[in-house]
Amino acid sequence: ISVLVDKPQARIQPTMWGIFFEDINFSADGGLYAELVKNRSFEFTTPLMGWKQNRVGGADASLLVVNRNSVNANNPRYVNIAIKNNKGSFVLTNDGFRGMGLVKGEIYNFSMLAHAVDGDVKISIEAINETGETIGRATLSQVQGDWQAYKTQLTCLKTSPKAKLNVTFEGQGTVQVDMISLFPANTWKNRTNGLRADLVQKLADLHPGFMRFPGGCIVEGRDLANRYQWKKTVGDIADRQLIMNRWNTEFSYRSTPDYFQSFGLGFFEYFQLCEDIGASPLPILNCGMACQYNSAEVASLNQIDPYIQDALDLIEFANGSTNTKWGGLRASMGHPAPFNLKMIGVGNEQWGEQYLERYKIFAAAIKKAYPSLKMVTSAGPDPDGERFDYLTKAMRAEKASLIDEHYYRTPEWFLKNASRYDEYDRKGTKVFAGEYAAHIPNETQKDTRAESHNTWWAALSEAAFMTGLERNADVVHMSSYAPLLAHVDAWQWRPDLIWFDNLRSVATPNYYVQQAFSTHKGNRVVPVLAGNKILAGHDSLYSSATIDTANRQVVIKIVNTSVQPRMVNINIQSKSRLGKQVQWLQISNPDKMVFNSLEQPDQVKPVSQNITWVGKEKMVKLDGLSVNVFIVAGG
Ligand code: AHR
Repeated sequence: ISVLVDKPQARIQPTMWGIFFEDINFSADGGLYAELVKNRSFEFTTPLMGWKQNRVGGADASLLVVNRNSVNANNPRYVNIAIKNNKGSFVLTNDGFRGMGLVKGEIYNFSMLAHAVDGDVKISIEAINETGETIGRATLSQVQGDWQAYKTQLTCLKTSPKAKLNVTFEGQGTVQVDMISLFPANTWKNRTNGLRADLVQKLADLHPGFMRFPGGCIVEGRDLANRYQWKKTVGDIADRQLIMNRWNTEFSYRSTPDYFQSFGLGFFEYFQLCEDIGASPLPILNCGMACQYNSAEVASLNQIDPYIQDALDLIEFANGSTNTKWGGLRASMGHPAPFNLKMIGVGNEQWGEQYLERYKIFAAAIKKAYPSLKMVTSAGPDPDGERFDYLTKAMRAEKASLIDEHYYRTPEWFLKNASRYDEYDRKGTKVFAGEYAAHIPNETQKDTRAESHNTWWAALSEAAFMTGLERNADVVHMSSYAPLLAHVDAWQWRPDLIWFDNLRSVATPNYYVQQAFSTHKGNRVVPVLAGNKILAGHDSLYSSATIDTANRQVVIKIVNTSVQPRMVNINIQSKSRLGKQVQWLQISNPDKMVFNSLEQPDQVKPVSQNITWVGKEKMVKLDGLSVNVFIVAGG
């Protein structure tokens, strides 16, 4: 093959490879959001879901869930605990999100809002492991007077993946409690209300160019009442109004009736996360339409103003001066500097005329107030269907900046579509491959583990497809695999990029493919030819190459989708000198169906070696079923 380094083509956008976060599969509550207490404010539809009560040693105690909706509509419920006889104890036990992952030697921050009504009630906490053993305890200072926050810390004596938290009340009297919370002290950047450090690290290691959030279908909601409303996710966490997650139970392979959105991970935290990992933020907003798979509910056109105002206010929240209402809120939450928002998405997987007419109203209002902001639109869920074509044409006519295309298809579809953009119209609206993943047919996988659909074959076909995205970087400006995260005990959708339980996480083969591309991006595409043809499937090989003018490197990616090894002669056509030491990053496995699991995380992973490459031509032997990245200095 020839790599024409002296013929640079398209610029590669900094946003080329990114991530897409949606609260699906316990990605936020129970996942990235490090809160360990489930239903901390008793706002689940069943108020005591996740909690158990126990009276020990003859305690005469009662519990009431009290609703103060008229004075606190966002967080109406608290519990009232009355102990009459100064004997024994009353214990409230929280199950956590499929248990709580606690680690020996780690410190955990407990907090709670409490109000002493009368008498004298002492409160202590205990962490309990799977066998009922106490593995950490702490007491709280005496609860006195009106509602205020109480805090303490416990240090864990043993590691447990499925611990529970006991909150114990002793004495005689009445107390009221709310917002019962336990967080590891060791969150990402040690923030209060923070994120799980191991999971954020995996995201950071992808060096994502952007992060799309908060969904996905949860943006739309099954109905408009349950759509994602960003304003309800900022400010004091006790004032963020919880709703049922759109992925609760109905679409679950595991039972998830306890799937709600506390919004402890809300829009401020999303923007902060983007900044932490160097990703340009891409929020997606509801366009006045609920999920079209679930309901046909739309906001009538004369009722659409609040939705548009939400979009305009969000831009002010992200970028506005601290003197503005929403910029001021951002500053009060600890971030006076703007978040540098450059793009905004309107609608998730919408389709039809209804979407188009709503989009036009949004676009006009946003472009008027913020002409330089990029507008991202949806192309609907079916990449080969008529709805998709209709919207693509319409959005191009509207001069949208980017069209968000989704493809959940077989590995064979991905191989076939490695040339999808070779003949695409180069002018005008660009492509955002916003959700994609190769899905293997269910019956082809006998292994029942949650992670088992993230096969090497699926990942390899995505790699082949991604060479096509990279080769067409003048058209494809952004792309992201989906979904990003999944809890092995509480998932609704697979495959996913990263699997986790309460203590561990595992990168899938698909993750390593994403990482191979995103961390070896380059900034200009250069042609790769086999004879005089683009190498996209010939002899089961797929290739793309880039140069990195800042670091003076040539990066050549070759995917071999055959089970047989391939001898490939790489001829770099460049007038400049090339370094002799070439780094060869290889991901390969002879078994198409192999996958990484929490128990066996390293079945498929990248291996790097340095090879010597004298001159501009080299014959290499590529393993069967392999992704290869050659990083050559110079060029
Ligand atoms: O990624 C899972 C779901 O797939 C998203 O919520 C939705 O946009 C798509 O249908």
